[in-house]
Amino acid sequence: FGEQPLRGRRVLVSAGPTYEDIDPVRFIGNRSSGRMGFAVAAAARDAGAEVTLVAGPVSLPTPAGVTRIDVRSARDMQEAVLKAARGSDIYIGAAAVGDYRPVDTADHKLKKTDGSPLRLELAENPDIIASLASLPDRPFLVGFAAETKELAAYAQDKMLRKGIDMIAANEVGPGRGFEVAENALQLYWRDGGAALSRMPKTELARRLVAHIAQRFLAGIGT
Ligand code: PMT
Repeated sequence: FGEQPLRGRRVLVSAGPTYEDIDPVRFIGNRSSGRMGFAVAAAARDAGAEVTLVAGPVSLPTPAGVTRIDVRSARDMQEAVLKAARGSDIYIGAAAVGDYRPVDTADHKLKKTDGSPLRLELAENPDIIASLASLPDRPFLVGFAAETKELAAYAQDKMLRKGIDMIAANEVGPGRGFEVAENALQLYWRDGGAALSRMPKTELARRLVAHIAQRFLAGIGT
């Protein structure tokens, strides 16, 4: 496909964690640094695509030439992604979207109780990539799967359940997947897959994008 297989294509990438506010000073978040998603955005740009990056709260510089939209919660991210998905050819969901949020966000800082447990009631967040899967004119959908065990089985199940085209599975845990500069990915699509061994996220993202471009172009008969 040459050096720039995604020339003229629009790619939308999500990256980073989401923060679900408990009160004005506390939130529920996760360990995602955004590094993987930012590397994917830069790799898609290098593959010739026009790239939009929807980023949760992270402290990373925007890759040159990439349009960035900052969000905080999963619902903010869903709104931004749904808006930007119109006209996108490919969506790559590298964000670690919070599955739950507090039912209520307190207006003022919660005070300590008298020693009795504090209970937080949580509501399920929308599944962003699954909501894209049900759109009539949907982009080619690539999800990530962050697992601590049974990588292959859980990832393939996620791909089918969410109705997406491809999934990039990584093992996560202390020093693995999240935050660190290196990662390894197991890729799955309906009738195949590929293993990408441990390497810097920048290089891994380039290889991932090459696979995505190949599957995407095969799907549209190019
Ligand atoms: O950011 P880094 O520190 O570099 O770490 C990279 C990473 C480990 C966060 C990244 O490689 C990764 O695995 N991202 C996905 C993390 C995740 O939330 O996976 P999941 O298995 O919970 O979700 C599966 C897929 O559904 C993902 O594409 C996710 O974006 C999407 N999803 C999940 C929940 C939800 N409510 N909406 C979604 O769209």
